[in-house]
Parts: sequence; structure tokens; C-alpha cells
Amino acid sequence: MTTTTSPQPTGHQSTYARHDWSSAFRNVGVELTDVPLVAARGSIPADLAGTLYRNGPGRLERGGRWVHHPFDGDGMIAAFRFEAGQAYLTNRFVRTEGWLAEEKAGKFVYRGVFGTQKPGGPLANAFDLRLKNIANTQVVRLGDQLLALWEAAEPHALDPRTLETLELSTLTGVLKSGEAFSAHPRFDPGHHGEPRMVTFGVKAGPTSTIRLMEFATQDQPDGVRAGDLVADSRHGFKGFAFLHDFAITPSWAVFLQNAVAFNPLPFVLGQKGAAQCLASKPGEAGQFWLVPRQGGHHAGATPVQVPAPEGFVFHHLNAFEDSATGEVVVDSIYYDDFPSIGPEVDFREIDFASIPEGQLRRCRIDPRTGAVQSEWLEQRCCEFAMVHPARQGLEPCFAWMAVAERERGNDPLQAIEKLDLHTGERRVWSAAPRGFVSEPVMVPRLPAGKERFSEDPVAENPVAENLVAEDSGWVLVPVWNGARCATDLVILNAADMTEQAVLELPLAIPYGLHGSWAQA
Ligand code: FE2
Repeated sequence: MTTTTSPQPTGHQSTYARHDWSSAFRNVGVELTDVPLVAARGSIPADLAGTLYRNGPGRLERGGRWVHHPFDGDGMIAAFRFEAGQAYLTNRFVRTEGWLAEEKAGKFVYRGVFGTQKPGGPLANAFDLRLKNIANTQVVRLGDQLLALWEAAEPHALDPRTLETLELSTLTGVLKSGEAFSAHPRFDPGHHGEPRMVTFGVKAGPTSTIRLMEFATQDQPDGVRAGDLVADSRHGFKGFAFLHDFAITPSWAVFLQNAVAFNPLPFVLGQKGAAQCLASKPGEAGQFWLVPRQGGHHAGATPVQVPAPEGFVFHHLNAFEDSATGEVVVDSIYYDDFPSIGPEVDFREIDFASIPEGQLRRCRIDPRTGAVQSEWLEQRCCEFAMVHPARQGLEPCFAWMAVAERERGNDPLQAIEKLDLHTGERRVWSAAPRGFVSEPVMVPRLPAGKERFSEDPVAENPVAENLVAEDSGWVLVPVWNGARCATDLVILNAADMTEQAVLELPLAIPYGLHGSWAQA
């Protein structure tokens, strides 16, 4: 495992072995409770205090049948609790209705959105349009609740310490039964005074509706409690909306509607999963949808629609408002086309060269004229990018992201890059050739005596005001260790990307989706 600064010495050839990569696809076989973790190398920083929560598919096979796509795997939560230089691991499957039913049956009894079929062929799957809420995409703290998220339905509430599944939550009546609730909330550090969780739900159809919701994340003096809904609005747009992620600024919620069409017929007839019925519309541009946030400069105004560059986006890094130009700046990971796995393809045999890689692109949108200018920030294959939490919605200096080991072309993610967004300088820590990374989470080092990283994030540079640099802290990243056939949790220094500690887990966790940090 190595750390390098740009220009990197890595070349243009893949260096990994496919069996190391594919060995991560397996069922999580055990649920652990508060197991102490020992650093195999380095030591756990004494001032790292809180819990890293991670979510991802933990069950990929039942009764000898594999899911068609790992995204169809049941959600398994891992919690890494850090306290006084020690770390403890707890993991639990989310006890969803589908997980309980399939555990009992010993086989798949639901179809998966990404193409997993029940046994028995199309006849056994046709006209079964039930959705299995697999709670596998993200896990976040909201007040005293821990929420396992899956975007097409409501969250599962878990006990934050034991990870026991408590209930399918309506968030005290905010959501209707089965209502969509994104797995990509954004945490506003306090653009309008108090910090908030901003999120959305989509009702898709020929005309789609976005519900934009903002929740308090702290108890407030005026009686508002953490978890209370404090802003709620609905906005209709023409066309079938496929929205996985969004970004926020103080005034805007920024969506990118990809140019996709949805033909549900193969899904209804039992031939394909619902997500496999999405297809890109060649030659058509996507659209940025700028929805005014309540409390922002454009509150109450009509949403702004602007044509987007060609390509497909799942995830955004961040967005901010450039006060000098009036532009809204959105950084997103672009693919040439919608990356999907065909019905006859085994995902473990996927040919990386045949699917497009993600690349980080900056779009500057002028909401007055609709003009968009774009430039590449990173053309090395990348995904799962984030900024310092205090810079969410504001202009950041740095981004941290998972990248491929080689500098061009599509490959598995094996390294973590820190990118200086002003100078282009890159620092890379690599787990290659036998390690494969999941999403990195940047954890800020707190100013001495403070429980949060900033109490005045509206200021121009709250981080500097707190005398802690924007890259002060750690990057926590799960790594599939192909040599050990198990997972390591690696702690990096966020500033120079040197390795602080490697914790070898007594657990094998398949590649995860998203995670979040909850400060102690
Ligand atoms: Fe995502």
C-alpha cells in the first residue's frame, strides 16, 4: 500500500487479478457485536471519536442462485465505533420484510430492481410488480434515529448502538406508506443558521414530482427538535425522472435529470428488472433542474431548467454559488452512457473495458441565461467523491474520491485520491494490486473544545475561522483485501494521504455503497 503525489508513477496497464476483485462477492456470514478491532499496522488516532456507519449489499446468493446485480443484495449495516484510540465493530442485516421472508424460505421470493428474478423463469416473475425494500444504499443519523435508506421507499429505523431493526419509519408521519425517500440526503452545515438534512423523494411518471424536504438535525431553542420537518415543497417536471442523487447550495437544490427513457413492458412480462428497462436516449441532452430552497434567495420562485452536457450521472461531488459571476457550479461524476449489465451477463465476469468509466466534471450554470460551461476536473476513473462536511454547498478546496489504479480507462476502484480543486495537485493512496476500495468518508478533526466542526458555517471560510485546515482529519475507507479474502478498514491522514492504521476485520464484507460519520 503506497502514497504518491502527482504526477503519479502508475501506468496505463491494469495490474489487478480478476479473482482478487471477484472474491469480494459473497454472503456476509456472521453478525458481530462490539468486537474490539486491533490495528495490524499503525495506530488508531486517539482524537477520532464517533461512529462510521456503512451500508451495502450483504446477501448476494440464496439457495444456490446469485443476484443478477450486487445492488439487489439485502442491506447489511456495519458500525465502526471509535473511542479513546480503540475501535469496535458491530454488524447487522436490516430485518426488512423481504429479508425475513427469504431467510425463512431459503430462496428469492421477490424480484430485484436490477434484474434478480425469482426461480421459475419469466412465467414465475411476470406481473409480480412488488418492490422489495432492501434498505441497502446509505445509513445516516437523524436526531436519535439511525436510518437505513433505499430510494424507492421509506427508511428503516435502527437502534444506533445495537443496529437492531426497529421499524419501517414514516418519520413521524412525514411519509406515506411506501413513499420514495432518497438514499442521498445532503447535510447543510448551517447555510441559514441551523444545520439541516436536505433530501428528496421522486414520484416518477410521464410527469414526475420531486418532493424536497428539509429536517432539523439539532434541537433548537424555539422548540424545533432534531428530526422535525422544517421545509417541504413539491415540484412537477415533464418526463420520467431517474434521480439517484442531488446537490445543494444555500439557495438551490440541484438535480440532473439524465436523458433516459423507461419502457416498463419487459419488467411487467417478467423478462427484466425495472432498472434494466431504463435506456439512454441517444443524442438527447439531460436537464439540470434548479429547485429553489426555502430560506434561500429564490424561495418561492419557479424552478429553473437548463440543458446539461451529454452523459449519465449517478453522483455529484458538491455544488456552490459563485457570488462573483452569479453562476451555480456543480461537480458531478459523468459516464459516457448509462452503465448497465445485460440480462445474460454474470456481474462477476463483467468486462470493465466494455462499460464506461466515471470522470469528474465541473459545470458552471448561469441560471439567468441558461448557459452552461464545463471542464474536466479528473479524467482518471473515479466514483464516490466527497468534500469536507463544512464545505457542503459552499466552494471547497479539496475533494476525496475512490479512483482506479491506472490513470486512464475503466478498472475496479483500488485507490483513494485527494484532489486540490484549485491547483489540480493530486495525492493518491493505493491498495493495489490486491486491495479494492469502497467509498471513502472524510472525517474532520474538530477544533479543540468544540463538538462540531463549525458554529458559523455561513461565514466565508468557517474552517479557517476555527483554525483547522479544510484537509485536517482522516479518510476512513473499507478495503477488500484479496490476499486475506476479508475486509480491512484503513484510516488515512486526509491531508497527506499517509496510512495511519489498517484494521483487519474478522469479517468479509462485499463492496459497499454509502456510509456516513456520526460524531461522538
Ligand atoms: Fe449512490
